[in-house]
Amino acid sequence: MNNPDVVIVLAAGEGTRMKSSVSKVLHPIAGRTILGHVLEAVKPLQAKELRVVIGAHKEAVQEHLTQIAPTATSVYQAERNGTGHAVQLALAGAATTGSVLILAGDTPLLSAQTLKEFVAIHYANNSSASVLTADLPDPFGYGRIVRDDEGAISRIVEERDATEDEKAISEINAGVYLFDNSALREACAKLSKDNSQGELYLTDVIALIKEAGKVALAVRTNDYNEILGINDRSQLAECTMIMRDIINDRIMKSGVTIIDPTTTWIDVDATIANDVTIHPGSVISGSTSIESGAVIGPRTTLNNVIVKAGAKVIESTCSDSEIGAEANVGPYSFLRPGTKLAAKAKAGAYVEIKNSTIGEGSKVPHLSYVGDATIGSGTNIGAATIFVNYDGVEKHQTTVGNEVRIGSDTMLVAPVTIGDGAYTAAGSIITEDVPAGSIGVARAKQRNVLGWVLRKRAGSSSAEAAKRAGATERE
Ligand code: UD1
Ligand code: MG
Repeated sequence: MNNPDVVIVLAAGEGTRMKSSVSKVLHPIAGRTILGHVLEAVKPLQAKELRVVIGAHKEAVQEHLTQIAPTATSVYQAERNGTGHAVQLALAGAATTGSVLILAGDTPLLSAQTLKEFVAIHYANNSSASVLTADLPDPFGYGRIVRDDEGAISRIVEERDATEDEKAISEINAGVYLFDNSALREACAKLSKDNSQGELYLTDVIALIKEAGKVALAVRTNDYNEILGINDRSQLAECTMIMRDIINDRIMKSGVTIIDPTTTWIDVDATIANDVTIHPGSVISGSTSIESGAVIGPRTTLNNVIVKAGAKVIESTCSDSEIGAEANVGPYSFLRPGTKLAAKAKAGAYVEIKNSTIGEGSKVPHLSYVGDATIGSGTNIGAATIFVNYDGVEKHQTTVGNEVRIGSDTMLVAPVTIGDGAYTAAGSIITEDVPAGSIGVARAKQRNVLGWVLRKRAGSSSAEAAKRAGATERE
């Protein structure tokens, strides 16, 4: 296979139509930036050199590039004088032989497969200038491919410079090109700003290379979804939906049941084993991985979560956590970073947990907050228990042993340790350690004031009911 020697990605544009304080190419789709998707598609081509032209939001784009493509060379285009100008700058300092692949940083759906086929066709035809094209039902805004009588490409004309006849052409320039390096350099030197936008158009290079007597090629792709460029938020949403369908399709083909693919949003880097079932309204993002047999959703968000085999997570929001094999989460649990549920553990309804380990088979079934705690195995945390981890200034740790029974509505004021097999009485405020096998009781003793309702609430429905039950006014 022939690979391009140099890849140039154009990403200096303002992205004005996004109306955003964030660079257009840094907007995310399915857990990866738009630019990230483009660079990922280019990777398998194994070009010797990757050059990215940056301009608007230069610092942020540069920082992102350093993270996702540390070997890329960034080229700064201070003034946006057009795609031709951007390429001129990128060529300075690049290899001077071989081939140059050029594409825009705003076409996130372009696949490595399409690029590979495009490159192969270029080489098979000894082309000096190839351009990827597609027939669009609505070609408005794109450059149009003008073909000669023999059907070969003769030039590209931009929407703003096109005649009415040219505007009627449905074949558009996808903005992906492969050039012979020296032919491109020669043509680039001849570009002029003689057009309606007063810019150097890279597209003019095609006609210049043709005029020099070399082969130019327009390579049509059938899947026009792939070449969609993002210029505004509607197109961002459109591409996001297409990406969702592509990802869900791949995952369903690998043996995952997705009950409603239209409301299931899975990031590109999530891994989901076969025989997982995902119910409607779920968002699976970041590096989340889900093992076989797990059941997720409905309406569940998992961000960077490890879900082990056979676990169930219903109507819950979880991030940076681990959910053990056959564990149960939800409905309405909130697992925050650092939560680790061991196998068969449970986090039930209206339970919030952060930075805590819940041991094997242990349960936090109802209405509790667990923060900065280590809980052993086989332990039950009664309803409405609160781990009081914050003294107003600092966070403190709570340790709960194995086979512990924490009574309902216990406050465990950290730092505190509850020994193995210990109990706490319901409603206790536990401020001191409870040794193994003991019960910690920390609440006022109950006192009944007899007849109080009949004396103080005389005539009320409660007093009448008490009377019927035989209560009297005496103390
Ligand atoms: C361009 C093509 C058009 C094609 C379309 C495909 C030209 C003149 N026109 O139009 O034929 O149909 O893409 O999407 O090339 N950029 C720079 N520096 C600049 C100008 C642009 O880096 O000075 C970058 C932009 O960030 C963007 C890409 O080049 O990633 C394309 O620029 P854009 O302004 O979007 O061109 P289009 O009008 O879409
Ligand atoms: Mg564009």
